[in-house]
Amino acid sequence: MPVSCNGDTRVGRTQTVLALESSCDDTAASIVRRNGSGKADVLASVVKNQDSLHAAFGGVVPEIAARAHAEILDYCVEEALEKARLSLSDMDAIAVTAGPGLIGGVVSGVMCAKGLALATGKPLYGINHLAGHALTPRLTDAVPYPYLMLLVSGGHCQFLSVEGPDDFKRLGGTIDDAPGEAFDKVARLLALPQPGGPSVEMAARSGDATRFSLPRPLLDRPGCDLSFSGLKTAVLRARDSLIETQGGLYEKDQHDLCASFQAAVVDVMAEKTRRALLLAPSATTLCVAGGVASNMSIRSKLETVSEQSGVHFTAPPLALCTDNAAMIGYAALERMERHPPDDLSLSARPRWPLDQHSPAMLGSGKKGAKA
Ligand code: KG4
Ligand code: ZN
Repeated sequence: MPVSCNGDTRVGRTQTVLALESSCDDTAASIVRRNGSGKADVLASVVKNQDSLHAAFGGVVPEIAARAHAEILDYCVEEALEKARLSLSDMDAIAVTAGPGLIGGVVSGVMCAKGLALATGKPLYGINHLAGHALTPRLTDAVPYPYLMLLVSGGHCQFLSVEGPDDFKRLGGTIDDAPGEAFDKVARLLALPQPGGPSVEMAARSGDATRFSLPRPLLDRPGCDLSFSGLKTAVLRARDSLIETQGGLYEKDQHDLCASFQAAVVDVMAEKTRRALLLAPSATTLCVAGGVASNMSIRSKLETVSEQSGVHFTAPPLALCTDNAAMIGYAALERMERHPPDDLSLSARPRWPLDQHSPAMLGSGKKGAKA
């Protein structure tokens, strides 16, 4: 049976947090506990995706996402408590993603968390979603600070030097699309199923990566910013020219285009990661997280880059790499040691850069602000 907590928030005491996440198209609740020795365990993690609700629209519809979060958040909380065999009274704090993300979804989570905090009298912590991703390697692998985090998903793309629980330096990131968006768009162009990442990776396995000479965007510029929009357009042009000359696309063309596209992404990510490691010379580990990190070609190339650069490589298990509430609970545990809780004036933030000193990122992806 789980131990019951005494609500004391001092370091060295067992701390249990109920966390909520609803910043994009996954509704999630989790219970994370840190024991007296400092080790954190995920006691329950519930994630409900909204894929079927958005499928017909070719992207996440913010209003539909927000309503769906509001409808099922409390069921996710109930399920998480049931799985952990705990009750609200066993919690030491309520944590919630307070941004960045699609604002309607973030508001749904923040309102639910405020209700829970008010009803139970438990402290409330508003957590930055990106901090959740960035701190996950400490939850899964106890990775020591400082480390380099490459966050690559359908909504995020950035290199972060993680130097402490509140100390993140953004070294670079996408100036347009996130890489997952590019995989999804390429799949759409080639009539492959969504989500595009796994279908493009599968098609690429039997393709010839040298058949199409696609650009390696931004390699000619210093630094570790990335760009994927031009690459996607190059795939579109190659596809259209095949259709014009052959009257259509053969399966072989699909596979070769996917392989050539993936090879370009791999090359760019590898080179930009080498540069980011040079900008973070104290980092002893390269961590990669986000849905795109499940791509085996990308992952194995990044492992090679780590070996060549003399740093360890780690990627959290996929369930903790993609959006989830356990990462929010863990970030809250780190926060509780150093900061007082938020009060009921906690607001939802569509934009919330982790590194307040880095220049603001332009634009916003189909899944909301990228920083
Ligand atoms: O982290 P995630 O589940 O959700 C957010 O974007 O927040 O990432 C989903 C993205 C999608 O764009 C999907 O196409 C991409 O990750 N993805 C992949 C692979 N699996 C998922 N991209 C490339 N290769 C994969 N194997
Ligand atoms: Zn995310």
